[in-house]
Amino acid sequence: MIDKLESYAFLPSDPQQGGPPKDPCLLVLFGASGDLTKRLLIPAFYNLACDRLLPERFAIVGVGRTEWTTDFFREKLTQEIPSFQTRPKLDENVWSQFVKQLHYTSGPLDHLDTYKKLSGFLDTLGSQLQTNGNVIFYLATPPSAFGPISENLNKAGLSRSEKGWRRIVIEKPFGHDLPSALELNREILRYWNEDQVFRIDHYLGKETVQNILAFRFANGIFESVWNKQAIDHIQLTVSESVGVEGRGGYYDKSGVLRDMIQNHMFQLLSYLCMEPPAGFRSDAIRNEKVKLLDSIRPLTAATIPHHTVRGQYGPGVKPDGSKRIGYRLERDVNPESKTETFAALTFLIDNWRWDGVPIYLRSGKALWKRGTEIVVQFKKTPEVVFRGSGLDHPEPNRLIFHIQPDQAIELRFQAKVPGPTMKLQDVNMRFGYGDVFKAARGTGYEFLIWSAIAGDPTLFSRTDLVETSWRIAQPILDFWAAEPVSDFPNYPAGSWGPRAAFDLMERDGRQWVEIINRDVLQQIPLFQNADARFLNALVMELKPEIHSAGESIVRKGEAGEEMYLISKGEVEVLDDNGQPVAELKEGNFFGELSLLLSEPRNATVRARTACDLYVLSKQDFRNAVREYPEFGNALLDVVKKRYNVK
Ligand code: BG6
Repeated sequence: MIDKLESYAFLPSDPQQGGPPKDPCLLVLFGASGDLTKRLLIPAFYNLACDRLLPERFAIVGVGRTEWTTDFFREKLTQEIPSFQTRPKLDENVWSQFVKQLHYTSGPLDHLDTYKKLSGFLDTLGSQLQTNGNVIFYLATPPSAFGPISENLNKAGLSRSEKGWRRIVIEKPFGHDLPSALELNREILRYWNEDQVFRIDHYLGKETVQNILAFRFANGIFESVWNKQAIDHIQLTVSESVGVEGRGGYYDKSGVLRDMIQNHMFQLLSYLCMEPPAGFRSDAIRNEKVKLLDSIRPLTAATIPHHTVRGQYGPGVKPDGSKRIGYRLERDVNPESKTETFAALTFLIDNWRWDGVPIYLRSGKALWKRGTEIVVQFKKTPEVVFRGSGLDHPEPNRLIFHIQPDQAIELRFQAKVPGPTMKLQDVNMRFGYGDVFKAARGTGYEFLIWSAIAGDPTLFSRTDLVETSWRIAQPILDFWAAEPVSDFPNYPAGSWGPRAAFDLMERDGRQWVEIINRDVLQQIPLFQNADARFLNALVMELKPEIHSAGESIVRKGEAGEEMYLISKGEVEVLDDNGQPVAELKEGNFFGELSLLLSEPRNATVRARTACDLYVLSKQDFRNAVREYPEFGNALLDVVKKRYNVK
């Protein structure tokens, strides 16, 4: 059975596509009794085993503080794997073979004796399996252990081998700020050479992220428009619907700039904007990534207030509609915390390709949906073509990379609506991974592990990339620390984020493109039984708008050109004395009369709470009704009931 693609696509083995890494080896897993091991790493190794992508002569040696035997380790993982494996069904045959490759040894990670014991263990196992001295040390431990483990491996003579290769794999975070990242790198490179060090950023394990390079450099048509001549701006969004999920202790010292933007989002940005590499070789690619990040114009005390926005979530709702507590009440979070759970930033890239093209980044927790998307917005057509035609200026073309959970690439453009006159509508061409590739779900770690065993560092962060990323983030961190905010929390959980993030783009005459999917619209009663094609068209037409509590959204007597759908929040309809006469909540709508009749607004509507609204313009409404008259009729029915018209 082929599972529905979600976050990660893990392609079954194809002899043309890699195959098992050629060198035999042992993999030492520090942190073997921890969470990452059981949740992600062991299921990833198991997936590799299922697809015959592990070396023929291979074993894993778990090292942990907890005193377990190899038998206990195997037994425990056998019990846990059904809960964490990602395939439709556990393959008992593969697992029973794989589990024999697991071993365990224990000891305090800061004692040299642990490493001496490990060294003996590796010698014995290595000669049994003839792994030729090849060993990978995988540090699935808290960062505070990276330095001591590196040092002790070195003292025990394990970081070098006369016969085979030695490598070290490190999980993030690579430092807490620029000075600590420099120190950590110094510490690691004291004992290891750069080509032995594999720093994992799990975003690079995502197929949709790796595909950015294929899309850009294996398709001739895009290179000539990939620049300031054709592109107006770029938006990158990593929206998470989860809160801090029990990681408050870590998160409160981190915040979204460190946790998501400085690492994962900068990786996305560098793939998207780098120059063509001199080849698909790891160093050629990594050189270009660093060069791109190096070209980002540093933000300064003068520009940070205009180019950055911070947010922290307050109480609100989860995607299933249940209540979510505000960030400050989360476990292990300071009740007066100033840590940001949302940030939006504007960068400029000072190079020939991108000079003057703004790059907007935003990421946050406890937002309305989970979705990582990149929107490349092209320049508008010249005004003159449509002047005097009675047509609205057409929407600019947009190329959208849906990274996760939707996995697709979409190009939005204008088409003529069938009929005798020239009417335009947004349409799209879309490549969906699930429609084209056969794939099973994975953990996202499979190809990272495979690459480390195969010795291919392309998907790993080199020292200079880590340091350059921190150099970009550091002035913002410093400024934010020196100027604590006074308006936190400034967005309700489950919303589109703080209003200021919308203002950030609006000041530049631009708007975030909220990627709305059909499922979201179907939650609105008006669209519950709507035709799928209609909803597909509508998701491209609706524009997001945010209002703060107390703000008037429409005013009585004004000419109305749009209707509003309430995604989150509540509004109140006011009478002529400014007194509320009705309340409208999520899923409801207002302003529809102005679409149906050419009359001014008949009432003022004010946001009672913070509101996220979808706006449908009259022009788009007319297009929709022409194609799908049922929508117009459904709306009319509701209006008749609302205004008691027969
Ligand atoms: C991790 C962050 O690196 O990435 C988490 O520490 C975050 O806070 C996670 O939730 C997001 O990863 P993904 O793959 O779900 O987008």
